[in-house]
Amino acid sequence: MKPDLSVDFAGIKLKNPVLTASGTFGYGYELADLIPLKKLGGIVTKTITLEPRPGNPQPRIAEAEGGMLNTIGLQNIGVKAFAGEPLEKLSEIGVPVFVSVAGACVSDYVETAKILKSFKSVSAVELNLSCPNLKKKIVCHDLPLMSDVIKGVKKVSKVPVIAKLSPLVTDISELALTAQNAGADGVTLANTYPAMAIDVKTFKPKLSTIKGGMSGACVKPMSVRCVYDAYPALKIPIIGCGGIMTGEDAVEFMLAGATAASVGTASLVSPENLMKVIDGIEDILKEKNIKSVKEIIGLINKADFSNHSCK
Ligand SMILES: Cc1cc2nc3c(=O)[nH]c(=O)nc-3n(C[C@H](O)[C@H](O)[C@H](O)COP(=O)(O)O)c2cc1C
Repeated sequence: MKPDLSVDFAGIKLKNPVLTASGTFGYGYELADLIPLKKLGGIVTKTITLEPRPGNPQPRIAEAEGGMLNTIGLQNIGVKAFAGEPLEKLSEIGVPVFVSVAGACVSDYVETAKILKSFKSVSAVELNLSCPNLKKKIVCHDLPLMSDVIKGVKKVSKVPVIAKLSPLVTDISELALTAQNAGADGVTLANTYPAMAIDVKTFKPKLSTIKGGMSGACVKPMSVRCVYDAYPALKIPIIGCGGIMTGEDAVEFMLAGATAASVGTASLVSPENLMKVIDGIEDILKEKNIKSVKEIIGLINKADFSNHSCK
């Protein structure tokens, strides 16, 4: 029997748990000729800001062992332009659309969310509170500021508001709980890891901004741990994100407590990998004779491994 892959994320029905990850799939509709977009659980757009942004200077990408670094710097056309043709094209796909939003201050986030409010095709707003590639401090590292952003956006939004957090913290559960207490309907764990790479031929940094964000297979164990640590503290659902390359990786995140799984770097390698992740989840459930993917959410957290934990 075909297992049921559907999940409910903060009231949004997803036909399967697989989402794109912000910034790795354009505005979300451009790859329609390459993969059947309507098979996705949902699409998370690249981050949109109130005003257009040119992003950081080149070079903005560097390969690294087991992953990549980027410093795109939130290049985007701005919310007014996004709310035109791009959003219309996204709505034609027929899957939930999560619009990622960032800003330089609370009112930037709020004003952007206000503009998005009038569009029925927006299923959720994902607040990017964790971009490591800007001159300013990472928003979620300032807990009162993060709370103000979430509260402000919640006031003007009719759709679920998801807080995307940075993994670079001492205690991710404290951060996730603060987001929940401020009214977030879900959290995404996690964004990229602040990192840098140096070219030893030129003795220069590989990225124009010197430092950037690390993503890809090599970050997966660290992001799985974030999900595992945050899950027991939360009532709201988690989108797992970081190094998901296969269905097995997505299942790992779900066992740790994620309800959905965002795929980033793997879809830059090949958008077809998104389909492989969906099929891979289904294969594992079939093999284990599990009827619904919902059954595996947080299983590792619920199990008792106390004999194995650190003394
Ligand atoms: C090229 C690139 C651009 C990204 N742009 C954004 C962005 O605009 N907003 C955001 O929230 N995250 C952005 N991210 C982070 C991803 O959404 C994701 O959190 C991170 O890459 C970890 O997942 P992965 O290992 O599957 O790529 C970007 C990542 C990459 C590689």
